[in-house]
Amino acid sequence: MIGIFDSGVGGLAVLQAIRKRASKADIVYFGDTANAPYGPKSKSEIADLIGMTLRYLHAAGCTQIVSACNSASVSVHAVPIDLLRLHVFDVIEMVEPTVAALAPRKKKIAVLGTEATIRSGIYQDAFQKGGTQIVPIAVPALAGLIESGASQGEIKAAVREAVESALKNSAEIISLSCTHYPFVADVFAECLKDQRSTIELFDPADAVAQEVIKRFSIEGTGKLQFLISKESSVFSSYVAELFGGTDYSIEVAPPVYHVLKTV
Ligand code: DGL
Repeated sequence: MIGIFDSGVGGLAVLQAIRKRASKADIVYFGDTANAPYGPKSKSEIADLIGMTLRYLHAAGCTQIVSACNSASVSVHAVPIDLLRLHVFDVIEMVEPTVAALAPRKKKIAVLGTEATIRSGIYQDAFQKGGTQIVPIAVPALAGLIESGASQGEIKAAVREAVESALKNSAEIISLSCTHYPFVADVFAECLKDQRSTIELFDPADAVAQEVIKRFSIEGTGKLQFLISKESSVFSSYVAELFGGTDYSIEVAPPVYHVLKTV
């Protein structure tokens, strides 16, 4: 079983890209709605939350994991829990597929992400290895605004600043390196139009989905289950919009100590 996780709605677009290619895959999606956004949190706080998430996903029968959360990438291999020491999980995260897709293009890339992602230096290090020049730009409030269903005006203000910074630094591609951002790709496009720019927006979801198809088992019954750590009407409406018409269930996950007993 494939388990996908994010702090909230962001990873749903990655899930959608996977399901487009693998409609028979059995998938459990965990959205940590009680603790979103992850961006302002420290590396060790995020590692603890991923530990909890992996316990939920393990209890739900998942051993193949997609970390659909850039902010988690630096912490995902350092989760201090027994489960990981047992190596029961196979993990695909966001950074490797993004770098593999963009580095060969030899362009100047603005990597937009949360404070946690940019502070970690994970994209800077990965691109530098291949000699690709990047402009790392933290966009502090944006994921939280999207997660809470903020107004277009608030979202546009956050996006405009990031876009202006990318253009000022002569970037040729903007990588949307927070899985929440593609949900406001239209706002990015609007801000670029305001600046008379035709710079390309890159959404890594497809590159990650391709990796999943290559490495994970995708033949099942097409089961789709959502677990969230706190009731969220924004989460439910994103799910209805993206997956309406298919069979799925959404449940609030039980407190983690119940799950621990079953692991
Ligand atoms: N969607 C996540 C990411 O890709 C997390 C955003 C957040 O919770 O701050 O980084």
